[in-house]
Amino acid sequence: MRGVLLHGGFGTRLRPLTHTGPKQLIKVAGKPVSQWALEDLRDAGVRDVAIILGELGPERVVEYYGDGSWLGVRITYIYQGYPYGLAHAVYIAKDFVGDEPFVVYLGDNVLVEGIREYVKRFADSDADAMVLLTWVEDPRKFGVAEFDERGRLRRLVEKPKEPPSNYALVGVYFFRPPHIFRAIETLKPSWRGELEITDAIQKLIDWGLRVDCAVVRGWWKDTGTPNDILEANRLLLDYKYRETVVKGMVEEGARIEGRVFIEEGAVIKSGSVVRGPAYIGRNTVIGPSTYVGPYTSVGDNCRLVNVEVENSVIMDNVVLEDLGERIVDSLIGANARIKRRDRRPRGMQFIVGEHAAVEW
Ligand code: G1P
Repeated sequence: MRGVLLHGGFGTRLRPLTHTGPKQLIKVAGKPVSQWALEDLRDAGVRDVAIILGELGPERVVEYYGDGSWLGVRITYIYQGYPYGLAHAVYIAKDFVGDEPFVVYLGDNVLVEGIREYVKRFADSDADAMVLLTWVEDPRKFGVAEFDERGRLRRLVEKPKEPPSNYALVGVYFFRPPHIFRAIETLKPSWRGELEITDAIQKLIDWGLRVDCAVVRGWWKDTGTPNDILEANRLLLDYKYRETVVKGMVEEGARIEGRVFIEEGAVIKSGSVVRGPAYIGRNTVIGPSTYVGPYTSVGDNCRLVNVEVENSVIMDNVVLEDLGERIVDSLIGANARIKRRDRRPRGMQFIVGEHAAVEW
């Protein structure tokens, strides 16, 4: 089976973090969101993967993943150009998949239990397509499934005002060519101006083809907003790091509590406490006198001195120094520097990017 990883979109709700690159490259619990997806594909035996690149920082994606060999996959890059929608992104992978069955994974989706069981299930079936579903509180933000009396899929609707059920489409789809491509060729743009993959699958149902569904076990999250990122971070820290691993150094007088993952070259300095679940990136220095609280991920090459931080995601090369208040529920972009001003006039000095949000 081949894999198609979608890496486009503008990530507007995640600005300013997405001013410099696609949202799928935002590091959560130590890895870009799309790397968790790529590893799910690999762990399910899907090793030939096309990454569909959007208009936002595609070169950064190529630079990060390269040919994929370091992750045990073979990557082909396909440029989507203008984002005409998910169905369009799938369509341009037509030559790449040929006549092999394939799985499409939206690069901003996180499934903590991976996709192995679904890849097997689809491979063993004769279905033309299979979708994954999960129960959600508010289905209006998603594609939603309607079932017939026997519990089979009757209809899929994209972001309905009046959802026919609470079962939302998870961003992982399975297809057997060629019907899906024929279906996409018949699509018209939806109310949001996009060619919807949901509508293409509906066509398959209308044509009487076999579309299976499976309800996912375990947590699923799509990461469109800052809160989603924080939640995905909590889930990944809980499920992917099962024990304390210290590759770096913990100085005397520093304390590690609970499940903590400390990467190579990281140092936890005296007088500091790291309370898990937490992740500390490569060559990052924590302390002295610093508290990193539960559900915090700190990127590579950061320096946290005399600060307290909790339930937050801190990207690479960040400096936090001498803050009087604890940082909570925050996303801090790469190369940011936040420190107490130690000269007059006293006060808070901000040099923040467009769409930044600061609450005190
Ligand atoms: C897309 C799909 C939607 C699906 C969702 C999952 O929505 O169109 O059906 O439920 O992904 O993440 P979008 O992220 O484009 O709003």
